[in-house]
Amino acid sequence: MARKVILDVDTGTDDAVAVMLAALHPAIDLVGCTTVNGNIPVQYCTDNTLRVLDHIGRGDIPVYEGLSRPLARLDFPVPRRERDSSGKYHPDALPVPAAVSSKQGVGAVEFLIETFRAATEEIVLVPVGPLTNIAAALALDPGFAKRVPEIVVMGGAHALGNVTPSAEFNIWADPEAAAMVFAAGFEKLTLVPLDATHRALVTKTQCEELEALGTPAGQAAAAFIGHRIVVHDTHQRQDVPHSTPVHDALAVGSVIDPSLIGTRRLHVAVETQGALTVGRTVIDTHFRGGQAPNADVAFDADAARFFELLLRTFAGKA
Ligand code: RIB
Ligand code: CA
Repeated sequence: MARKVILDVDTGTDDAVAVMLAALHPAIDLVGCTTVNGNIPVQYCTDNTLRVLDHIGRGDIPVYEGLSRPLARLDFPVPRRERDSSGKYHPDALPVPAAVSSKQGVGAVEFLIETFRAATEEIVLVPVGPLTNIAAALALDPGFAKRVPEIVVMGGAHALGNVTPSAEFNIWADPEAAAMVFAAGFEKLTLVPLDATHRALVTKTQCEELEALGTPAGQAAAAFIGHRIVVHDTHQRQDVPHSTPVHDALAVGSVIDPSLIGTRRLHVAVETQGALTVGRTVIDTHFRGGQAPNADVAFDADAARFFELLLRTFAGKA
């Protein structure tokens, strides 16, 4: 029986791979995608998500546009690399044809609240961007956390940062939202941080295998991941030459096969004040804080089996 999933995305290249994995793998019934301001302004995230779903023949999956700015931050913390010298955005339009589908008329937060209120089967919520929409749902519907049986968050980090020396982008982009999510009391919260995603690197040679599939998903994944490798070779060189993490796809992969990641049950909180540490996930690995664990935190991932999952799914042989 396929597991129902809602993906909350800020599509981006790794979100795009995650959307294709969730939309094409038989173990997942992708109920809908919600979009949020993050990698790029939300309207471009929505457009990219529609493009990707149409490209793989899943334009039937509804897309709901969400919040366009962080809950509390007055600035729009879009990473420096998205702005050129003039300060303009360069929307990360993905190299797939223009969308023919349109977003839904209902907003993302309303969709989330109403869908979980009406749910008669379990739905796994998988946010892989800033947690703004999720926090807004918690603020508008005090019973929301209890209605979500499982949430799998891509974000955070313990031993590394990617947008500041101490923070990962999704959490840093809306730290107040993230703090609300970790304090909300979700029954089953899995965190897939950089510590895990950086152990599931995809290489340039593997991109060539995806390209050789000749399927729309295989060729698109090769293009998206290939773009990431070029950026990482310049801005975030990995230990494995010409490789990149595909963060959001690993979060989806862990819903399909939980054994892809190794987790520890720990307490996680989010720093929202520190000048140097704002947006840091404070993961209590040695139980120093005396607070009950609130998350299953992934510190390991099986890179070979993760890539095999991508290859089989995009070949249409999952
Ligand atoms: O830090 C990685 C995360 O930030 C990924 O979800 C990527 O898409 C960006 O949102
Ligand atoms: Ca993302």
